[in-house]
Amino acid sequence: MLIPSLIGAFEDDMKAMGMRLSAQDIYDVNNSSLKDAIMHFGGGCTAELVSGQGLMLTNHHCGYSQVQAHSSLENDYLKYGFWAKNKSEELKNPGLTASRIVRIEDVTASVFFGTEGLEGSAKLLKMKENTDQLIADAMTNNHFEADVKAFNYGNEFYMIVEETFLDVRLVGTPPNSIGKFGGDTDNWVWPRHTGDFSVFRIYSDVNNKPSEYSESNVPYTPLHFLPVSAKNRVPGEFTMVYGFPGTTEQHLTSGNLQYIMDIERPARIAMRDKSISVIDASMRSSDLIRIQYSSKQARIANGWKKWIGQLGGLKTVDALQIKLDREKAYNDMAATNEEWNKKYGSVIGEMNALVEKYKMADFGYVMFIEYQYVGPELFGRARTISKFLTEIGDLEKNGGLAEAKQAQIEGAKGFYKNYDEATDKQIFQLLTEEYINRLGKDNVPAILRSSSPEELANAIYSKSILTNQARFEKFMAKANSKSMAKLLKKDLGVKLWKETEETFVKTYLPGAQEFKGQMDQLLKTYVAGKLEMFPDEAQWPDANSTLRITYGKLEGSAPHDGMQYTEHTTLDGIITKNNSGNPDYELLPRMHELAKAKDYGDYAQDGELWVCFTGSNHTTGGNSGSPVIDADGNLLGLNFDRTWESTMSDYMFDSSRCRNITVDIRYVMWVMDRYAGAKHLVDEMTIVR
Ligand code: ARG
Ligand code: ASP
Repeated sequence: MLIPSLIGAFEDDMKAMGMRLSAQDIYDVNNSSLKDAIMHFGGGCTAELVSGQGLMLTNHHCGYSQVQAHSSLENDYLKYGFWAKNKSEELKNPGLTASRIVRIEDVTASVFFGTEGLEGSAKLLKMKENTDQLIADAMTNNHFEADVKAFNYGNEFYMIVEETFLDVRLVGTPPNSIGKFGGDTDNWVWPRHTGDFSVFRIYSDVNNKPSEYSESNVPYTPLHFLPVSAKNRVPGEFTMVYGFPGTTEQHLTSGNLQYIMDIERPARIAMRDKSISVIDASMRSSDLIRIQYSSKQARIANGWKKWIGQLGGLKTVDALQIKLDREKAYNDMAATNEEWNKKYGSVIGEMNALVEKYKMADFGYVMFIEYQYVGPELFGRARTISKFLTEIGDLEKNGGLAEAKQAQIEGAKGFYKNYDEATDKQIFQLLTEEYINRLGKDNVPAILRSSSPEELANAIYSKSILTNQARFEKFMAKANSKSMAKLLKKDLGVKLWKETEETFVKTYLPGAQEFKGQMDQLLKTYVAGKLEMFPDEAQWPDANSTLRITYGKLEGSAPHDGMQYTEHTTLDGIITKNNSGNPDYELLPRMHELAKAKDYGDYAQDGELWVCFTGSNHTTGGNSGSPVIDADGNLLGLNFDRTWESTMSDYMFDSSRCRNITVDIRYVMWVMDRYAGAKHLVDEMTIVR
């Protein structure tokens, strides 16, 4: 996960692995380079430009909420896919953005300028002043956005300048039976056969500058776009992934890892076991609920399954022992030198002590998140309307109440479109039970102990304005400060939300914040020690949602004794999986027809149609949609996942074991051309053979 502006230092190593590009081809500020084709998609995923007319590819699961928003029972794009026949049919997506990195600059010296001799808040204040100035300067006389981000826990700072496009339209998506083929059964798993891609287009104003959606906007002309490779793949060939990895935590201490493995992860997994079982059953029972909950289900299940894989991997490699050994080596090294000993000799002990001190606060924090932010949606409703609830008196006095009420009713429509009361009620009951059990009766607010979870569920879901649209609208129509006061006293849903929230803010939040703040300080020292005492070891800053490069090879793996994963999968495997009868492997008839006819077009290799392949590139969440690029800068495919055995890489990357999963661009083109009849999109790209 290397910083693109520093890639020059790795050019030799990359060339030794087969790369034929120069560092300037990859990252350049003054000339166009690969970086100009890489986009941060919606702030969470990565996407890449593949034509001179702003055509952009990302994963199906990254564009999923947009596709879902455009879907209905009449236009079931989730089930059947969607393909704009021409630009006028492309669909707008309010709020969706795509950003290009203009430049990345090491500003460490400028951030620390004038802080010599300062301590504590005085030092922080000076650093903030410097940072604000840097940002203001970078944003003068241009339409860019700038930010200064800490790397290595504040040992370094980089300025990131970006250009954000605001008109991003949906061009096409395959049906779920391709884009989500394998569903949760295959998520995080190899062998994999998911066609995890969707197609968007960036529009700009006539001057090629970002602009909000407008009919007069035109397709954006990129500084660079990636040619796509239809050449035969060769196992062992060089691959590079260019994208926006979100978070890694490679420096966790043994104590912290142990807490996560023994307490935190198992509890979060247990919470999600429950909500997923309810949602899955509801989705199977009705097409409407299937559409309503597909996006939510995918989000909840994704973390859940990753964590299960992480725990498995961490145990298999005995990550805890590896951590302990490394910590010993660190302390031994510090002990060899008086100055090091003073600076670094106690930091690991302090970090582990900090975990002991605050782990229950942290646990309360994450369980609250699981309960209120991932669990039953009545809590989300309460958060959404809470501001209105407290402002109603003022609105009544100062006018504007009628409009505010109408806005609430309108806003609620969007929410209830994707809500099923019976499903939410069951989730509430099961998660309340689990929440109390895991945290302990004494650590949850009294209201949760006042009656059984079942009784609470019955009482809330039959009366609260949070859990039913008709009740909400009826209440809103007549709401005034008097009825509001009554509601706050009487509505059990609102009361429960308030009390759990207040307990959280009082009991858990301060400790969790202290924990993070103090830990980051110690991590800064710890990492500084690694950099200083082990200068010959490969060091890279933890991911922080900034643009990074990782490279490796196209290769398989052997994660279990007696088991070998090949590096690619083919269309035949899709049919074999479908034959198993598992509904996650459902196909539409067209796939059978094409597979039977072996109609592979020019997209095959040695008589096979490759679907996915693996590589030894270090990726994480946020890398989804990232281009996997060959030795010459051509697009081989889209990164979308990791193997189950390697999800531990967020804590510990092991290149012999960890593999990223890519959907082959030749399969993407085959789907567009042969499956969907959207050959015009393939023709828009530049194909290298
Ligand atoms: N595991 C991949 C990632 O973290 C893909 C998730 C989407 N697929 C799914 N079946 N939920 O984003
Ligand atoms: N699927 C992930 C993403 O959405 C990628 C990963 O975690 O490997 O970014």
